[in-house]
Amino acid sequence: MAMVRREIRFLLNDDEMRLTEVGAGDTLLDFLRIGQRLTGTKEGCAEGDCGACTVLVGRLTDDGLRYEPVNACIRFLASLDGCHVVTVEHLRGANGGLHPVQRAMVDHHGSQCGFCTPGIVMALYALWMQTPRPSETEVEIALQGNLCRCTGYAPIVRAALAAADHGGPEGDILVTERASVTAGLKALHDGTRVEVARDGQRAILPADVDDFAAVYAAEPDATVVAGATDVGLWVTKSLRDIGPAIFIGHLDGLQRIEETADGLTIGAGVSYSQAEAALIGAFPHLREYWHRIAGWQVRNMGTIGGNIANGSPIGDVPPVLIALGARVVLRHGAVRRELPLEAFFLDYGKQDRAPGEFVETVAVPRPNPATLHSAWKISKRRDEDISSVAAGFAVTVADGTISDARIAFGGMAGVPKRAEAAETALIGAPFDAKSFARAAEALPQDFKPLSDWRASAEYRMRVAQNLFQRFWAEHGEAQQAELRRAEA
Ligand SMILES: Cc1cc2nc3c(=O)[nH]c(=O)nc-3n(C[C@H](O)[C@H](O)[C@H](O)COP(=O)(O)OP(=O)(O)OC[C@H]3O[C@@H](n4cnc5c(N)ncnc54)[C@H](O)[C@@H]3O)c2cc1C
Ligand code: FES
Ligand code: FES
Repeated sequence: MAMVRREIRFLLNDDEMRLTEVGAGDTLLDFLRIGQRLTGTKEGCAEGDCGACTVLVGRLTDDGLRYEPVNACIRFLASLDGCHVVTVEHLRGANGGLHPVQRAMVDHHGSQCGFCTPGIVMALYALWMQTPRPSETEVEIALQGNLCRCTGYAPIVRAALAAADHGGPEGDILVTERASVTAGLKALHDGTRVEVARDGQRAILPADVDDFAAVYAAEPDATVVAGATDVGLWVTKSLRDIGPAIFIGHLDGLQRIEETADGLTIGAGVSYSQAEAALIGAFPHLREYWHRIAGWQVRNMGTIGGNIANGSPIGDVPPVLIALGARVVLRHGAVRRELPLEAFFLDYGKQDRAPGEFVETVAVPRPNPATLHSAWKISKRRDEDISSVAAGFAVTVADGTISDARIAFGGMAGVPKRAEAAETALIGAPFDAKSFARAAEALPQDFKPLSDWRASAEYRMRVAQNLFQRFWAEHGEAQQAELRRAEA
C-alpha cells in the first residue's frame, strides 16, 4: 500500500499548521473562527453566496504560487493540505497601518454596518494583487460573489478603483514573502497519500490520479469532493455526514488543459476560473456566459468535472459543452471509457457512471469555422444566480443552407438535453428567419419543462423558443446586413 501521512499541513498567515484530528466535513470557516479565534472572517450565509467569509488560498501550480479568493464556509479544512491560507488579519500597509485596499474603503465610505467588509476587502485585495488598476467592469466581476446589504456598491467600486493610489502590490507581504512561502509550501509537500479523521469521519487525499482511481475503486461509496461548491452545502445546509470523503482538489493531474489541433481536453478538476482563458480563447461566444456562472470565489473553487458529475439539470456547463460536441472520459481503476457528454445524463438524478468510476476529462473539439455559436443563461438575477434556462447553440451554414445544428438546453428537462426535433427542423433548411421560427415551433416536441420557484413551465418554453429568434437576430440579420453592405 502507498505510504500514508496522518496529518494535514498548511500555512495559515505566518504560522505552520499540522492537524491530525480533521473530519471530512470540517470547514475552514469553523476552524478559523472557533479554533483559531480569527473572527475577522465572517459567517453570513454558510452556502457560498454572500462572500462574508472570503479568504485567499495560495497553492503551488505549474505557474508558481497562485492566490485566489474562496469561500471559507464551504471550503473543507482537509482540502487545504499544502496551501497558504490568508485571512483579513494578515493584511497590513506600510509601517503597520491600513492596507491600501482598507485605506481606500475608509476614504470612500465603503462600509456601513461592516459585516460584509472583511470579505469585500479580501476580494478586492485579490483583485488589486492581480490588476492594481482595474476597470469598473473588472471590479464588478470581482465583486459578483460579495453581497452588501447596506452600503450600496457605488462607494465600494470607487474604493476599488482608488486602492492603488495608496500603494501597489510590489510592497505587499504576499509579494515580499513569496520566495519564503513558496519554499515553505514545497517543504510541506511529500507526495504521499494523506488520511485523517475526526469522530470516525475519514478524509482521504490521494497521492495522485492513479492513487485516486485505486482508492475510489476500493471505496466506491466514498464521497468525491472536488471544489465542494455542491458538497459543502450538503454539510452546512443539510448537515450530512460525508465521510469517508476522497478529496481531489489538489490533484495536478486532473487540472491539466491540453490544447491540440483537434481541440481542448480539460481535466475534471479544472476550476471555472482555470478553464476561462482556454475556453474563451477557443470559443469566444462563452465570454459573457462564463462570467454569469456563480461569483468569483465559487468560480475559483467549482470544477468542470463537478458540474458534470453532479448531474444537475440546471448546471451551466453541460448545455454549452453538449452543443460544442464534447465527449467525456470516465475512469474506473485503470479502465477508461468515453461517451458523448449528452449520453452521460440518463435521467433526473441518474448518470451513466458506475460505483467507483469518476469523470477524468472532457474533450471539446475545435469548432468548424462555418459554425455559428451562441450561449445564453436566463436567470432572475444577472449575477450569482442559478439558471432558469441555459442554452448552447451551434449551427453550421453552407451555401445558405443549414448543414448541421447542435442545440442543447438546461432547465428544460430532468437532464441537460439536446433539442432533437428543433435540430431536425433546421438541418437542410435555408438559413433564414422562417427556419428558426419553425424550429422554435418544434421545441414542445423536445421538452415538457416543469414549474418551480425559478420559473413557470410556460415561461421556460417561451423564453427557450425566443432564443431561436435571438439566434437569428444575432447571426442571420448581421450576416444579411453585411451582404447588403457588400452589394452596395
Ligand atoms: C453560491 C453558489 C453559486 C453557484 N452558481 C452556479 C451557477 O451559476 N451555475 C452552475 O452551474 N452551478 C453553480 N453552482 C453550483 C456549483 O458551483 C457547480 O455545480 C460546481 O461546478 C460543482 O463543482 P465542484 O467541483 O464544486 O463539485 P463538488 O461539490 O466537489 O462535487 C459535486 C458532485 O460531483 C461529484 N464529483 C466531483 N468531481 C467529480 C469527478 N471528477 N468524478 C466523479 N464525481 C465527481 C461529487 O462527488 C458530488 O457528487 C453554484 C454553487 C454555489 C455554492
Ligand atoms: S458565509 Fe456567505 S459565502 Fe460564506
Ligand atoms: S456594510 Fe453592512 S452589509 Fe455591507
